[in-house]
Amino acid sequence: MSNILHNATVDTLLERRSIRKFKPKPLPDDVVETLETVAQHAASSQFLNDWSAIRITDVAIKKRLAEIAGQPYVATAPLLYVFVLDEHRNAAIAARKGVEVASDAFTLNGSYRYTQAQNDAVLALHAMETAAYSLGLGCVILGSLLNDVPALIDLLNLPEYTYPVLGIAIGKPDQEPAIKPRMPRSMQFFENEYPSSDEKLLSGLDSFDAEVHKYYDLRDTERPVDAFSDQVAANSTDESVNAKAVATPAKKQGFRLER
Ligand SMILES: Cc1cc2nc3c(=O)[nH]c(=O)nc-3n(C[C@H](O)[C@H](O)[C@H](O)COP(=O)(O)O)c2cc1C
Repeated sequence: MSNILHNATVDTLLERRSIRKFKPKPLPDDVVETLETVAQHAASSQFLNDWSAIRITDVAIKKRLAEIAGQPYVATAPLLYVFVLDEHRNAAIAARKGVEVASDAFTLNGSYRYTQAQNDAVLALHAMETAAYSLGLGCVILGSLLNDVPALIDLLNLPEYTYPVLGIAIGKPDQEPAIKPRMPRSMQFFENEYPSSDEKLLSGLDSFDAEVHKYYDLRDTERPVDAFSDQVAANSTDESVNAKAVATPAKKQGFRLER
């Protein structure tokens, strides 16, 4: 028996599932203002506020993003954002305060800030996602926009010291996908230390595999999705991720990830 406590927030989070088909109606301004303001209220490392989000309203840009993603539903999203980690604004602010941004003394472009800014962007996006679900909307997070980071940077005019993190498509759901199973809590939450053996770590995997293999993704209703282990194994040798390596485009954007 589950001891989970329920309230509106908990239930919104427990019932969350990605939505990939939307009613075409645009979302009203008050919804947009609410979602954007909620995102701004997320926590931010050292209060640097080092992320920005680009609201995509231009139909041609939406189409181009759908091409980059290889996912047609990106073009039909009533509300679409690309979240970027952003030290450009802070560099401009620091420069106004007399900081030599082009010198070695400037550290906002190092790897620590890069990862913290990425965390901040993701937390803001997640706050927006949760608020959207709480308002009866649905979302899908879009890592697929990173299929071609140089093209994305070019398309959105992303300046020095910025880097795209994730997209999010939001709208009124026009589908009702089932909630995807999650692994047993004991496989993901540990007490005081990491489990001492992989045998302990993976106990529960077989039944989770079986449960996942019963799930139907609405993107392909012909067959259930692969067992979790099969998904992990396939992903673990997916060479296409090599083309998405971060180091080179990040360097072009002025980041020094070796620092
Ligand atoms: C970082 C991240 C990137 C994702 N990228 C995509 C994407 O490009 N396209 C897509 O359809 N779903 C994407 N998803 C959604 C995941 O596929 C989905 O969250 C996962 O399969 C679990 O399903 P659920 O959200 O329905 O619970 C992404 C999710 C995350 C967290």
